[in-house]
Amino acid sequence: MAARRLELMLCTGTGCVAGGSYRIKRALEEEIARHGLQEEISLVPTGCNGFCGQGPLLVVMPERIFYGWLKTEDIPFLVEEHFLKGRPVKKLMFTPPERREPIPLLSDIPFFKKQMLIVLRNKGIIDPEKIDDYIARDGYTALEKVLTSMTPEEVIEEIIRSGLRGRGGAGFPTGIKWKVCRNEPKTPKYVICNCDEGDPGAYMDRSVFESDPHSVIEGQTIAAYAIGASHGYIYVRTEYPLAIKRMQKAIEQAREYGLLGENILGTGFSFDLEIREGSGAFVCGEETSLIHSIEGKSPEPRQRPPFPAQVGIWGCPTVINNVETLATVPVIINRGAEWFSKIGTETSKGTKIFSLVGKINNTGLIEVPMGITLREIIYEIGGGIPGNRKFKAVQTGGPSGGCIPASLIDLPIDYESLTQAGSMMGSGGMIVMDEDTCMVDVAKFFIQFTNDESCGKCTVCRDGSAALLEVLTRITDGEGREGDIEFLEELAWAIKDASMCGLGTTLPNPVLTTIRYFRDEYEAHIRERRCPAKVCKNLIAYWIDPQLCQACLICKRECPAEAIYGEKHTVHVIDQSRCTKCGTCLDVCPPRFGAVKKLSGEPIPPVERGMRVERKKKTATPTQEQLSA
Ligand SMILES: Cc1cc2nc3c(=O)[nH]c(=O)nc-3n(C[C@H](O)[C@H](O)[C@H](O)COP(=O)(O)O)c2cc1C
Ligand code: SF4
Ligand code: SF4
Ligand code: SF4
Ligand code: FES
Repeated sequence: MAARRLELMLCTGTGCVAGGSYRIKRALEEEIARHGLQEEISLVPTGCNGFCGQGPLLVVMPERIFYGWLKTEDIPFLVEEHFLKGRPVKKLMFTPPERREPIPLLSDIPFFKKQMLIVLRNKGIIDPEKIDDYIARDGYTALEKVLTSMTPEEVIEEIIRSGLRGRGGAGFPTGIKWKVCRNEPKTPKYVICNCDEGDPGAYMDRSVFESDPHSVIEGQTIAAYAIGASHGYIYVRTEYPLAIKRMQKAIEQAREYGLLGENILGTGFSFDLEIREGSGAFVCGEETSLIHSIEGKSPEPRQRPPFPAQVGIWGCPTVINNVETLATVPVIINRGAEWFSKIGTETSKGTKIFSLVGKINNTGLIEVPMGITLREIIYEIGGGIPGNRKFKAVQTGGPSGGCIPASLIDLPIDYESLTQAGSMMGSGGMIVMDEDTCMVDVAKFFIQFTNDESCGKCTVCRDGSAALLEVLTRITDGEGREGDIEFLEELAWAIKDASMCGLGTTLPNPVLTTIRYFRDEYEAHIRERRCPAKVCKNLIAYWIDPQLCQACLICKRECPAEAIYGEKHTVHVIDQSRCTKCGTCLDVCPPRFGAVKKLSGEPIPPVERGMRVERKKKTATPTQEQLSA
């Protein structure tokens, strides 16, 4: 196909599709046709671009002009102004909160600047449903290389030398895992790709499937060659329909091209893949539970050893790797172990994808070199905290990771540093919290999740998480007792020590880290009946400051509980017995009045009903004589 004047890379990842990118695609096609520009402009539906907070988004090549938050109404103007008349449209470009001028080019946007793309090398620049697009970017050359010029042992050695560690959570060295499996005498052998991804807020693996499914197929086929497997499974949660559809299509295309199936590339090596859909429980991502799930058994973990690499699916040696781990493999083969091992830190090589969410200006998916600091991620890539609020903590490692406080903002992100800080790498969830977050409440939220998701096999995990939840609920309800903190710590360690699988051994992390770094918040809840972040409903009250209320009637009108008394010219008063603490009055009171206050741990000052308002004096505009005096 002849090169086009412009290529429009339209994100059709799940986030942008939900925001209407298919409608935008139709509008673009119509407008391009209306202006007769079909021969000059091509439209490429890509996977997730990463900057999901700006979706639906479009990148115009070759300059890489970035447009975000697109609406169908914007399209006629955009096509006419930019694509026809050559005048890029400023108002649709990205403007960071602290700037007035937009940033036209993707490469100048700070969100993208510090990233290093290895796994996400093709995101946003290929059509994931076209194998030719992948091949045009060196796709399947690594597979060809291993099949035609490397022995399985050489492949394993290369992966060991690269220092690649599993990206699914535990960080086990990938090459070693492959070697253990290869050395097992029993056959057949299997290789499974783990795309269960049950962490709330995480979508790295889904995104790789949606934006570049062939990278995973290629990596998994290389793994199969290395360990001697002829069959593999892709385990992906049912809740990922777009990822499943694209992966299925990619498998079919790879078969058509002779890259999967019998006698791949005429080398005599045969390998094929099938997709198995998981039922969505968090514990299904644990490798032994996942194996049970594929075998049609109840998805409960089992004791290890033996490890799946020794005794896995159908009782046979099985390598299970995470999506990101597998997608990294072709790049290591092509660029060499030495190149890869120079990226990152001494013990954590390469890059890691994180889903950056929560109280952060730039939300999305980022791929960064290991060893990057939290500060760089939060302030340079993430653009800081909205509304200039203070950064308080970040939860890494998913629901059973830990909360890292602002004091550790210069912590380098690698497996060991995160573990030392009481958290873990996990699969890459990163939830940013600001000063308005209650850390006891956060611990309660995560324990609620892991308690729900415990499979119930071990008493200590099942009942222990329920007991943690009970105490945390009591504390946030304002009924904490002396000794609760010590009890939580003791129980958390007992759960860690005695649980059988990773869910139980890690679930206490949010409790332990919040106690370790925010003990004063626990103490304030228990001893002073005060929630310092003013979040826990039983410990707060809303109150209208009579000096500031201007009797504008807005809060009275909006209060859903009819708990506000007041009329024109009289100070409004909240009836505490009716107030449900929904916070609406605080949200609607005009900022120039700022009369509604949240209180915690202090008595509510009494306010007389019927008090006349003290009108704020308008600042008179100075006269010309006054100014010149
Ligand atoms: C509760 C629990 C959930 C897990 N969920 C996932 C998951 O969604 N994806 C994943 O790759 N690994 C998950 N793991 C880790 C897997 O058990 C396993 O270590 C991983 O898939 C191995 O791949 P890797 O060596 O490439 O990291 C989970 C572990 C536990 C304990
Ligand atoms: S630790 Fe929890 S999730 Fe894991 S097997 Fe035991 S009960 Fe099930
Ligand atoms: S917090 Fe909600 S219920 Fe209470 S007074 Fe304000 S608006 Fe009404
Ligand atoms: S509290 Fe605020 S919103 Fe309510 S009447 Fe007073 S000034 Fe208006
Ligand atoms: S889904 Fe479009 S940028 Fe992520």
